[in-house]
Amino acid sequence: KHIILIGAPVDSGKRNQGCRMGPDALRVAGLAAAAEALGYGVTDLGNLTPEAADVAPVGNPAVHSLAETVGWTRTLAAEAQRAAETGMPVFLGGDHALSLGSVSGMAAYAKAQGKPLFVLWLDAHSDFHTLDTTDSGNLHGTPVAYVTGRPSFTPPFPAPEAVVPGENVCMIGLRSVDPAERDALEQTDITVVDMRAIDESGIVAPLRAFLERVEAAGGLLHVSLDVDFLEPAIAPAVGTTVPGGATFREAHLVAELLHDSGLVRSLDLVELNPFLDERGRTASLMVDLAASLLGKRIFDRPTRPFTGS
Ligand code: ARG
Ligand code: MN
Ligand code: MN
Ligand code: MN
Repeated sequence: KHIILIGAPVDSGKRNQGCRMGPDALRVAGLAAAAEALGYGVTDLGNLTPEAADVAPVGNPAVHSLAETVGWTRTLAAEAQRAAETGMPVFLGGDHALSLGSVSGMAAYAKAQGKPLFVLWLDAHSDFHTLDTTDSGNLHGTPVAYVTGRPSFTPPFPAPEAVVPGENVCMIGLRSVDPAERDALEQTDITVVDMRAIDESGIVAPLRAFLERVEAAGGLLHVSLDVDFLEPAIAPAVGTTVPGGATFREAHLVAELLHDSGLVRSLDLVELNPFLDERGRTASLMVDLAASLLGKRIFDRPTRPFTGS
């Protein structure tokens, strides 16, 4: 039971700055102490810096901060593989562009273990743009496309050592999907659970169904938690708020079910922008959710559904 905190102050994935302060805000909010209280050993690698990368410009002129993001991808993919050898990597973001590295690195690690990687993407957005389809040019909107092997990334990004098949990816919380992303998603086997689906069937059923598939495949699960998965009223510290997000209770339920599954191998906590926070409440909520995912619960047993008898 050991977690490795990896500070990834990535701020290159979008134009509005502030996510570089995220790792320290998560530390100040008590992430290490929360994990230790749950019986984990904790190693904090501190904040990493990106490798220098020299890249040729790409066709889409909107894309920005490309070299810095490519450098981060190399750095974080390598660190993911190293850290996974000794514990559970927890990437402290930093914007969602960090997942270009964390997920591709975990996919390489899983491949070396002879196991499939599965990815749970908890987000208002699908982050499924290629370098060609992004209008904003914000690379935080691209990691799922990269790790599932969509074209346009290589070069300048490293060719992923292992591609994550679409059928191994589940997105929960979607409510802002660009037309090009939607058209592309429809061509894949990615499971998409948008807010309408959650309103109609609840959040538990689709999550359980996905976790059962991970378990049946003997897979390793990477969870990527974007602050904007949450309802902005409870989590204001993110540059890309979208109304109608997961509630406090839904989010904790997801985190507790993830813990109960025993399947989570690595975690991203991303898009926290402390510059936009209110007295640290979003940082504290992200730490509380991480604690639930690591095993904090009200009673010391998994909750069993109430049957009425
Ligand atoms: N789809 C939009 C874009 O391409 C929003 C992406 C938001 N992604 C995120 N990680 N917050 O710019
Ligand atoms: Mn995202
Ligand atoms: Mn998002
Ligand atoms: Mn867009």
